[in-house]
Amino acid sequence: MKKHEIEFKLNGDTKKVEVESNDVLLDVLRYKLGIKSPKVGCDRGDCGTCTVIMNGKTVRSCLVLAVEAHGADIVTLEGANSRKWTQRLQKKFHEKNSFQCGFCAPGVILSATELLEKNPKPTTRDIKEAIAGNLCRCTGYEPIIAAIEETVKGK
Ligand code: FES
Ligand code: FES
Repeated sequence: MKKHEIEFKLNGDTKKVEVESNDVLLDVLRYKLGIKSPKVGCDRGDCGTCTVIMNGKTVRSCLVLAVEAHGADIVTLEGANSRKWTQRLQKKFHEKNSFQCGFCAPGVILSATELLEKNPKPTTRDIKEAIAGNLCRCTGYEPIIAAIEETVKGK
């Protein structure tokens, strides 16, 4: 398999990695760079556990070829922790016990961060749409939506 050297920004730092043509970003982040917040769930774009922010938009990193990340700006939950809305969301989810196993949590928090950075006063419908691609097997979504709504209200 052909090797490629790619370079991209990861949480503000420049990373250079050698990848193969069919490597996906999720595997490069987890297994070559030790970034563990994006999780391996379905591995086919259905569950959202592998969500990262790429060039300002959330993407499913299991669907992004590593070579496509060359020159990109990638942010994972580890790097998003300094963002205002990410911090507030995490605090609120923690206070309200809005996750159970937590496997979906990084993806949900990043999707909610993207929403609130674009629209700080979303409706419940906006919130549901924003996290529609992030599946949660444990909570039934109500505590997740409630935590995002309370984050918006600053309660
Ligand atoms: S692991 Fe990427 S969408 Fe499920
Ligand atoms: S808290 Fe377990 S999958 Fe969401």
